[in-house]
Amino acid sequence: MFNYDKENSIMIKKQLELVNEAKEILESNTTTVSVNGKHYDRIIPSRDFYVHQWLWDSAGIAMGRVHIDEEAAFNDLLSLIAGQWHNGLMPHIIYNPGETRYYPPADLWQTARFTRDGIKTSGITDPPLLAIAAAYVCDQATDEQKKRDFINTLLPCMMAYHDHLKRYRDPEDCGLLTIVHPWESGTDDSPGWDSILNRIDLNKIPTEIKANVDQNRKDTKYDNAEERPTRNDYYRYIYLIELFKDLEWDYTKILHETPFAVKSILFNSIWERANEALAALLQTYRNQEEAHKYQQWAEQTQKALTNTWSEEHNQYCDIDVTQGRHQAIAVPTNAMFMPLYAGAVPDHQLNILLNRLSNDDEFFTEYPVPSTAINCRFFDKDRYWRGPTWPITNYFIIEGLKRYKARHQDADQLANLLIQKTVQMIKENGFWEYFDPLEDGSEDCEKGMGFSSFSWTAAILIQLLHMMK
Ligand code: DGY
Repeated sequence: MFNYDKENSIMIKKQLELVNEAKEILESNTTTVSVNGKHYDRIIPSRDFYVHQWLWDSAGIAMGRVHIDEEAAFNDLLSLIAGQWHNGLMPHIIYNPGETRYYPPADLWQTARFTRDGIKTSGITDPPLLAIAAAYVCDQATDEQKKRDFINTLLPCMMAYHDHLKRYRDPEDCGLLTIVHPWESGTDDSPGWDSILNRIDLNKIPTEIKANVDQNRKDTKYDNAEERPTRNDYYRYIYLIELFKDLEWDYTKILHETPFAVKSILFNSIWERANEALAALLQTYRNQEEAHKYQQWAEQTQKALTNTWSEEHNQYCDIDVTQGRHQAIAVPTNAMFMPLYAGAVPDHQLNILLNRLSNDDEFFTEYPVPSTAINCRFFDKDRYWRGPTWPITNYFIIEGLKRYKARHQDADQLANLLIQKTVQMIKENGFWEYFDPLEDGSEDCEKGMGFSSFSWTAAILIQLLHMMK
């Protein structure tokens, strides 16, 4: 006979073991570094390769970590803002001194003149998750005084970051920010970027850049090359950095000159939500007047995202805006579900998105949601953002579906199913960076890919278990 109490207590014990494992990963991936006599507690994504601090990883990690260690969650964000540039830019990597396991190295960017206190950083940004994380951490943290100090320190930095993004990435004031490098999208080698990157003629990329990549690239030393971006992708990634360096990191010039300029729906859905979060924080901790500007930006972005819908392709589309173009990119990646997160989806589109998400010929695989639809010709189950399932994007899709639960009961059911499936994927395979989304019949087949003991996966597991309560 089924013994509910016994089954239940076994399940709770298993969940506790999982949380403890996640906690250990987060603790062992936290490192205290000293730069010019100042100390920072930084969380690194993994022990191999990603050995510095990343903007959107750290923000996402803080959101999971606050459930088990408030102090550490505060530190994840405080150490991030120490890397902010004088002009407000939040760089996507803050480098830890003395580390050689990552490529490109800090000095390749030549950005020292923009940073404070001798901190070395990249020169591009990441999806702007910072304000969302700060608001979430504040919401969950219990120590009122620490929370107030934390938010008072963070607010001016977040306002400066948002003002910087709005000024330099949306000079036309259309509501959608432009990203200038595939790394800024968070989905580096998404097939959505192929048509743009292929316009960068490999023959015109200087041989020194190619030689630098060939001699120094590190990711393929630690990980299977089939699971990583290709060599040609890397030539182009580094070529773009060299170009921006020549333009002295002047973003007015970069926006004109870059051969990669995209209004990304993932990036902008996070931007929308980040402005909502910042406005809410300002409303609570400062005043309505300051909140108003960011609330208006959120509303403007929400409308602009709604308008990226393509009737022809039944999906929201990124837009290629390189050098005056305005071309929808109709590749079926999981970014099409991101406008849910931004609350930008009218009823008709909601039905279509729910159908596509739950269709097992497209996105509802054994471990959903693959980064590219499995019936798309670009789908590659192993390669980074061209097919594998990422807990990170699942988290945003779940939160997006939850936003629509009052409008459509399927949205709530799908969100709950996705929570269960994502937890199961991590439980069955471990805390990997990304996962093979397909069923292949064999029991012992390795589904985890990329780097193991991955911090953001650990943090998301904690957050998903919290949502299941
Ligand atoms: C990498 O190095 O793979 C990152 O995505 C760049 O931020």
